[in-house]
Amino acid sequence: MTNLKIAIQKSGRLNEDSLTLLKECGISVNNGRDQLMAQASNFQLEVLYLRNSDIPQYVKDGVADIAIIGDNTEREKKTGIVHVLDLGFSRCRLSIAVPRSMEFTDLSDLQGKKIATSYPNSLKDFLTEKGIEAEIHEISGSVEIAPNIGLADAICDLVSSGSTLFKNGLQEVYKIFESEAILVANPCLEGEKRVLLDKFVFRIKAVLAAKN
Ligand code: PRP
Ligand code: MG
Repeated sequence: MTNLKIAIQKSGRLNEDSLTLLKECGISVNNGRDQLMAQASNFQLEVLYLRNSDIPQYVKDGVADIAIIGDNTEREKKTGIVHVLDLGFSRCRLSIAVPRSMEFTDLSDLQGKKIATSYPNSLKDFLTEKGIEAEIHEISGSVEIAPNIGLADAICDLVSSGSTLFKNGLQEVYKIFESEAILVANPCLEGEKRVLLDKFVFRIKAVLAAKN
């Protein structure tokens, strides 16, 4: 039997909403806590639980056929996988933030500064576009701590509720782009997999339409 292999985030913000979406589509997945692969019982779908940042490459290589990821992840990785559908959840933005104590008038205040981020490519493109020369310091998580420990002058990271910024004494000063969860696919899906994807997308669209 052919299965459509879908990658979803193993843990983190997208995990729960992605599983909820599957459930709303009428797809039951048995989900052992540490089980990294699960078969849906009533749809030809196999779920792979993977690290968020690895997912675009897995889809590109065909390890997974499709995935639910944040748009921000593919914008950063630029693997060229197919953006099938916006899913309307996990809305957030990639923003620049600085310590509340810093006087900030406009982007030129970032000139010559050190900016910590987990999104070096997105930040680099943005700085180039704005003609700002700043040093990019890549860290993989807990980015908001960087100014407080003297690692950087500013940060560039995802903001959702704004609570992490607030708790770390930072203020959001510029929104680079907005993001939400999206369905992506390997560009070369064909045959039965293509049919399964169409069937899956049809169900998702019905779920999304019912919410609007
Ligand atoms: C994400 C993101 C921000 C925070 C934004 O971090 O990197 O830090 O959530 O959410 P908020 O505006 O609602 O506070 P996450 O908790 O996933 O941890 P990590 O950055 O260490 O991976
Ligand atoms: Mg974080």
